[in-house]
Amino acid sequence: MKDRIATVVKNVPVADGIWSMTIAFDDIEEIKGAQFLDIKLPDPSKVLRRPFCICDFDKENKTADVCYAVVGEGTKVLSGVKAGEKLNVLLPLGNGYVPKGNKIMLIGGGMGTAVLPAVVTANPGKEFHAFIGFANKGKVVLEKELGEKCASVTVATDDGSYGKKGFVTTVAREAADVLKPDEILVCGPEVMYKAIRKCFDGSGIPVYVSLEQRMGCGIGACLVCNCKVKRADGEGYVRVCKDGPVFLLDEVVL
Ligand SMILES: Cc1cc2nc3c(=O)[nH]c(=O)nc-3n(C[C@H](O)[C@H](O)[C@H](O)COP(=O)(O)OP(=O)(O)OC[C@H]3O[C@@H](n4cnc5c(N)ncnc54)[C@H](O)[C@@H]3O)c2cc1C
Ligand code: FES
Repeated sequence: MKDRIATVVKNVPVADGIWSMTIAFDDIEEIKGAQFLDIKLPDPSKVLRRPFCICDFDKENKTADVCYAVVGEGTKVLSGVKAGEKLNVLLPLGNGYVPKGNKIMLIGGGMGTAVLPAVVTANPGKEFHAFIGFANKGKVVLEKELGEKCASVTVATDDGSYGKKGFVTTVAREAADVLKPDEILVCGPEVMYKAIRKCFDGSGIPVYVSLEQRMGCGIGACLVCNCKVKRADGEGYVRVCKDGPVFLLDEVVL
């Protein structure tokens, strides 16, 4: 992990309130899927860095992509950054996800979908099937990007305005009976993990989740990002930024 000066190559809106940024580095080290980066905002009043998953990366061109929703002051500042500007970026952070099996089901809920493309890029030769869910058509992102990399992509919207109508968890659960994936990786809001737990309980398929938590340092020093886990030796707390963000769903106390 290194703190680097990156050059913004592109920063454009791609959906309702959602932006895509590409940043270029002088060098880029090995990146695992579901790792994240921490951006220092170009505004001295915003002291804390903002974490975003590495949505995708290109080792040859030494670039990384971030797909982000503008939700508060920090992301508003980020959306104002122009191509050519420099940013201070710490990466890669977190443990990442390295699939053991060959056929992997990816499930993304809302901005959690941003975790998925890099997982595919980092694991060539494996068969990925992506299921991505959004509130409505205006919020759909990364369908094309995942379509170029995965064996299949299925989109669901809560209101049925695009793709299948309903929760992506239900759509993915039905598909799993046919696909029979070796493993599942999910990224989305906590409520989705509860639904996934119900859906896949007893299925025998290992389910991994990439957690999001409010963060301070992003590197394991401040303990702001603690989450509770249950392991063979009992319950305890782990740091999402350093010990995660990827955990076995069975271990996470929701
Ligand atoms: C490991 C990690 C990866 C992430 N990846 C992405 C990503 O790829 N794309 C993306 O859009 N967002 C991602 N997030 C969330 C992103 O960091 C926050 O949305 C951002 O920091 C908000 O900054 P702000 O100053 O605009 O908002 P603030 O003014 O700080 O907060 C505005 C709203 O955003 C919520 N929020 C703030 N931080 C978080 C957080 N860490 N997790 C969940 N909700 C938060 C607040 O509760 C509040 O409702 C990620 C977070 C983590 C921890
Ligand atoms: S954010 Fe500081 S320990 Fe995780």
